[in-house]
Amino acid sequence: MRVGVIFGGRSGEHDVSLRSAQAVMRAIDPERFEVVPIGITREGRWLVGGDPLRALAACSRLPLELEPGEVEEVEKTTLPARLDSQSLAVTEPTWARTVDVVFPVLHGPNGEDGMVQGLLELADIPYVGCGVLASAVAMDKPTAKRLFAQSGLPIARWFAFTWREWVREPRAIAERVEREFGYPCFVKPANLGSSVGVTKVHAPEELPAAIEEANRYDRKIVIEEAIDARELEVSVLGNDDPIASIVGEIVPSREFYDYEAKYVDDRSQLLIPAPITEEQAETARSMAVAAFKAIDAAGMARVDFFLERPTGRILVNEINTIPGFTAISMYPKLWEASGLSFRDLVTRLIELALE
Ligand code: DAL
Ligand code: MG
Repeated sequence: MRVGVIFGGRSGEHDVSLRSAQAVMRAIDPERFEVVPIGITREGRWLVGGDPLRALAACSRLPLELEPGEVEEVEKTTLPARLDSQSLAVTEPTWARTVDVVFPVLHGPNGEDGMVQGLLELADIPYVGCGVLASAVAMDKPTAKRLFAQSGLPIARWFAFTWREWVREPRAIAERVEREFGYPCFVKPANLGSSVGVTKVHAPEELPAAIEEANRYDRKIVIEEAIDARELEVSVLGNDDPIASIVGEIVPSREFYDYEAKYVDDRSQLLIPAPITEEQAETARSMAVAAFKAIDAAGMARVDFFLERPTGRILVNEINTIPGFTAISMYPKLWEASGLSFRDLVTRLIELALE
């Protein structure tokens, strides 16, 4: 069976996707599956054949963790700004005929948000993970929050507005922050993951710059209260009867678990299992399944939580429908600790896509 692995993409999380895809492709069982790598450049060109991962890595800001011997070749690869090398076949959707199932390993907009899932539906190709609706609602923070709240899941206080509303009435938005939760608070683009475009704002004068930064990624902007909390994560696997992994905890190396802490310095710690009470773990696990069902997810998702320090309250922060899949990422690590190896996890996800 041929498994198309799609990675890269037109997203602020392009680089993270390359790392995840590399780990997924290594984990795909060669006895059962043949990998067809499918790369999407930052500009949206599709590369199939040759070695798209290598080609995309060569244009990437982040070096991949390559096996010894692979490094030199990548460094030698020079690509023109516009990729049109003969070794890379740039295709129209003929790639669709060369695969039996697709594992989209794309993070962020134009991939994790239902776009690629819609294309695969149109081409009638089964794929790993959530469908169009769940992918789209999970990527839009305000929509996901509304669905969580409606399902009775506790969340932090928040509100959203558009860039245009901010330009028109900045005072009204600043006053709303003061009135509803005050400082510190988080300013985030409504879409995207990996904390791209997210700023922790400590005082009113920092608000305009944070909103401008978030607006680089989305015209819709979310402001959330900053909770004094520990960060817990739970992996969910399954279709209509999803199961939850054990609970993990992130101890960020920086003020919050931002992009640098996630991918650049490696001093953040993953505690598996999280040192919490059995009762707290059960609550987080059942809330993870409830959040998965609230958006009608399928296949996989990682649900992130806050464990409020003063009260012990557990709040849903967000759901990630294509969670990070690097060898050190929480999603596969939690399954490993729950008794499912990376390889068996990937096989299971492919099976779920074909169900
Ligand atoms: N958005 C990143 C990849 C994550 O949630 O793991
Ligand atoms: Mg997260």
